Amino acid sequence: MGGQIGVEIIGTAMHLPEGKLTNQKLEELMTTSDEWIVKRTGINTRRQADIANGETASVLATEAMRKALVKANIDAKELDLLLVATMTCDSPTPSVACVVARELGCNDIGAMDINAACSGFLYTISIADAMIKSGSYKTIGVIGADTITRHIDYSDYGRGAAILFGDGAGAVVLQANEDPSKGMIAHKMHADGNGAKHLFIPSCQLDFPPEAEFDERKLDKVQMNGQAVFKFAVTKFQEVIAETLEDAGISADEVDHFVCHQANSRILDSARDRFGIPEEKLLVNIHKYGNTVAGSIPIVLDELIEDGKIKPGQKVMFLAFGAGLTWGSSLWQF
Ligand code: COA
Repeated sequence: MGGQIGVEIIGTAMHLPEGKLTNQKLEELMTTSDEWIVKRTGINTRRQADIANGETASVLATEAMRKALVKANIDAKELDLLLVATMTCDSPTPSVACVVARELGCNDIGAMDINAACSGFLYTISIADAMIKSGSYKTIGVIGADTITRHIDYSDYGRGAAILFGDGAGAVVLQANEDPSKGMIAHKMHADGNGAKHLFIPSCQLDFPPEAEFDERKLDKVQMNGQAVFKFAVTKFQEVIAETLEDAGISADEVDHFVCHQANSRILDSARDRFGIPEEKLLVNIHKYGNTVAGSIPIVLDELIEDGKIKPGQKVMFLAFGAGLTWGSSLWQF
């Protein structure tokens, strides 16, 4: 099939923890208000994994992929590669991917994690598409899974980030297809480490950028300059849409769905306004889940597919930005 290989998404699923972290609950934990959070972010509630009882990223990832395999109607043994986008691995090693492969009973296939923070899933499906088109792999499982709430300070010190994030996982099964027009038709991966200081999780004093003051309470917790990240996201989101459309030689109205990382509804609104994207082409589900990091895009995708909104022949643009700083796009022909 070399050079003539298409890629099809044959199954999608999500898995969310049962635990809920509503705005009302946050009002009890810190100085904030439901009204402030909804107005600034569009978020009403989020899910929170029960880490103390072992509900880690690998557990969410395994359940998401288990459901995706059922929907794809294939056995885990048919996967020949497993890629997991995550920045909240259960422990430094083994990778989440190795744990998922073990739990699902995969063959001794390649399995690895990819960390590009909230852009992780977007990077990973772009890589998976290329791996299938190379002819080396036929069926690849791709997961986005994070339990970011384990790195949040739920006190007034951490309230800027605490209101945004939730836990969750989404999974897709990609398979080689005889129709070479299917799969990724354009993509962009960007990173700028100079912006790392705006969104980071320090493990020790050395991890603090020169301009940030060391504070022991900040160790292992998300540190975010909300305004800087907001400006970066609005600018890069618009830039990357424009450059991807140009590369593909199409206009924004030829894209049927924009499947976007859910970080703040105001960031999504800015992109919709700039390109005249109608509401029905850009699903916003942030009110239910908050920002689930690498889980965010596959969760939106699964919701759209479950509702029958994405149809064969349509064009779908995945878009993400996140810590690193990272950002990018992946335009697909379904
Ligand atoms: N509840 C109530 N008040 C809060 C608050 C909270 N949770 N967090 C901050 N505030 C206060 C601030 O202290 C500040 O008060 P002051 O004016 O008295 O100093 C005021 O609200 C405005 O703060 P600011 O940081 O300017 O708010 P904002 O409009 O930028 O909104 C974010 C804050 C975090 C919602 C917004 O910056 C954002 O979403 N940024 C992008 C973050 C992101 O997407 N990160 C993930 C990337 S993948």
